[in-house]
Amino acid sequence: MKAAAVINKDFTVSNVDKRVFGSFLEHMGRAVYTGIYEPGHRTADKNGFRQDVLEYVRDLDMPIVRYPGGNFVSAYRWEDGIGPRDERPVRLDLAWRTRETNQVGVNEFSDWAKLAKTEMMLAMNLGSRGLDDARNFLEYCNHPSGTYWSDLRAKHGYKDPHNVRIWCLGNELDGPWQVGHKSAAEYGHLANEVSKAFKYFDKTLETVACGSSNDKMKSYPEWEATVLDQAYESVDYISLHKYFGNEKQDTLNYFAKAMDLDRYIVTVGGIIDYIKAKKRSKRDVKICFDEWNVWYHDRKEDGERIASWNWPEAPALLEEVYNLEDALFVASLLNVFIRRSDRVKIACMAQLVNVIAPILTRTDGPAWRQTIYYPLQLASKYGRGTALNVSASGPTYDCEVAQDVPYLDISAVLHEGGKSIAVFAVNRSVDQSLDLSVALQGFKNVKVEKHTVMAGEDLRARNTVDAQHTVVPKEGSGLVLTDEGAVAGKLPPKSYHFILLS
Ligand code: AHR
Repeated sequence: MKAAAVINKDFTVSNVDKRVFGSFLEHMGRAVYTGIYEPGHRTADKNGFRQDVLEYVRDLDMPIVRYPGGNFVSAYRWEDGIGPRDERPVRLDLAWRTRETNQVGVNEFSDWAKLAKTEMMLAMNLGSRGLDDARNFLEYCNHPSGTYWSDLRAKHGYKDPHNVRIWCLGNELDGPWQVGHKSAAEYGHLANEVSKAFKYFDKTLETVACGSSNDKMKSYPEWEATVLDQAYESVDYISLHKYFGNEKQDTLNYFAKAMDLDRYIVTVGGIIDYIKAKKRSKRDVKICFDEWNVWYHDRKEDGERIASWNWPEAPALLEEVYNLEDALFVASLLNVFIRRSDRVKIACMAQLVNVIAPILTRTDGPAWRQTIYYPLQLASKYGRGTALNVSASGPTYDCEVAQDVPYLDISAVLHEGGKSIAVFAVNRSVDQSLDLSVALQGFKNVKVEKHTVMAGEDLRARNTVDAQHTVVPKEGSGLVLTDEGAVAGKLPPKSYHFILLS
């Protein structure tokens, strides 16, 4: 099969906000306890943070991490996680039916975020709690001194404010499963009031209103329209969530689900424009896609375990083991975020460690990188810059979830202020290679600086504690620059390519 693409230096989409390569860390399962924090672990520092995990996180060049939930946040009391550790209460976490020891709270997370060289995005509880608790949380985190909450923070050993710039106004409040679930009208009103209060405190803060938990929700897309109708002038982002899976073990159908993500973003973009027009507004609300990933391998079994267990502490939960197929699919999802970088300014792979995560750990044992770690890492390192509008043509296929799905999935970014071009391409075909030619317009004397490939015969291949490097990126070969100014080569079936041209 043959496919062609054209990249023109002047045909751009938008600046790619580095925060689209963000992540999410929830107090659930072993994400925090024995994930990032395990006092006594052989790599733990004096604060109990696992250095092996931190090293992998830093290698992702992680721009932002959302914390502390997730469903967890909707019944969370942030005050339980501050002050002397031995005085912190143990509480029931209603979302995952576990016990929360509160040994890690916002101050410890801020320490960890500094070590991870990442920005904090904090979510507040607008499920079981409301405006007052949220504003106290803000004052505790961001006010310098001289008030009850800021002085308490100083007393807890954190004289300098955490200065958190971006705040999530609750989590998935459209979901009937959520503690404190609300109707769109109730939530839109509350989100607007809390966002207003936050901006009375500091008008430069950014806030994120909950959009839909996924595009199959009954209330979607009316939820977005109703919430934005109430809160358009005060919030900066509408958050979207979506998880994917190959439940039917149909690879082409699975890969085509990236089109669903695209459609979701385009639809919500349309709603934003509609409300903007309706309000004669000058502001542009953006999309914060703050939960996305593959989640299906053990989803049903995990649901059954949660229902029957007796409030365990930091149990193994949602520890999906990802395969090569998942890595190729995640690469396609990242391509969507790059291509839609005009709308999506923040996106968080959910999650970061142990829970549906690119990094797994053994308690008292090693940490290792899952297959999906690598496309995220390459996109995060090289996908920053200006997204280019890539025109592509080539063979397509039809499947259950979409029609005319291109076998070639491609995105490109002008990187390093235009000094290089990063191309991210997936050949979705399971049995045929693609002869690809990418015409480069407006670039002179281009060289192939790097070509990295993830591919293999076995789409089910995975990295495990005993075989941590089964699926890793390898150096590619065979790309040539043609006399016509194109980069050309053969993409084997089921392969992912990162190409750096400079
Ligand atoms: O990331 C796991 C869960 O998925 C989160 O807690 C929730 O927000 C979503 O439903």
